[in-house]
Amino acid sequence: MEYSVEILRFDPEKDRSPYYQSFLVDAALNERVLDVLLKIRSEQDSTLALRKSCGHGVCGSDAMLINGENRLACATLLKDLQGKSIRIEPLPGAAIEKDLVINTDPFWEKNREVMPYLINPNPPPDRERLQSPAEHELIAESTRCILCGACTQACPTSWSNENYLGPAALLKAYRFIFDSRDHARQERLEKVASDRGIWKCYTIYNCVEACPKEIDITWHITRLKKAALGTRQ
Ligand code: SF4
Ligand code: FES
Repeated sequence: MEYSVEILRFDPEKDRSPYYQSFLVDAALNERVLDVLLKIRSEQDSTLALRKSCGHGVCGSDAMLINGENRLACATLLKDLQGKSIRIEPLPGAAIEKDLVINTDPFWEKNREVMPYLINPNPPPDRERLQSPAEHELIAESTRCILCGACTQACPTSWSNENYLGPAALLKAYRFIFDSRDHARQERLEKVASDRGIWKCYTIYNCVEACPKEIDITWHITRLKKAALGTRQ
């Protein structure tokens, strides 16, 4: 089947502004958008820039705007798209480094700000730090995050306020604030309750719609709001 694929191109070293370039690609319904992009790069234009690594929805590196929705190229089958025209653009709300590659530095910086690691001054036991099934259940959904950035780049608050920590960093904070083994709950809560954090979430739900791992990020942010207020969780 022949697909018409329109890709936003931009090379800051030679282009004054981004433009769309069209390609015709033979592909089967069970192929992925990532396969289409790799075909274009190997058969038609080796200068096409994109990020990808695992190819299986694990590393989070190939999130992009596909037919107007933030999705993983490796997890999007052609049969799941309408028609034979595909428009592919970089994730919105970030500076383009080249073609489909955005500058992710601000995203990672915000992730680092919430201290995305277990803090526990007690010496580790011989095997592992245990928690009960009920304690794990509280953080299980948040641990599915692959840090693809699709949520943060879908958030209108992130688009309009570059200081906002954004849904991905807030979810990462939740993952440790509600981890029974962690000892930095208060410190993290103060970070997320700052004027750059949870109170700037207006429950628009774009993040939830964009998440390829179907994480209810807004629910987690609401739990953070309740924790910051000291109300029952
Ligand atoms: S919460 Fe979902 S959309 Fe956001 S970074 Fe994690 S996996 Fe990606
Ligand atoms: S290439 Fe790793 S998630 Fe798509």
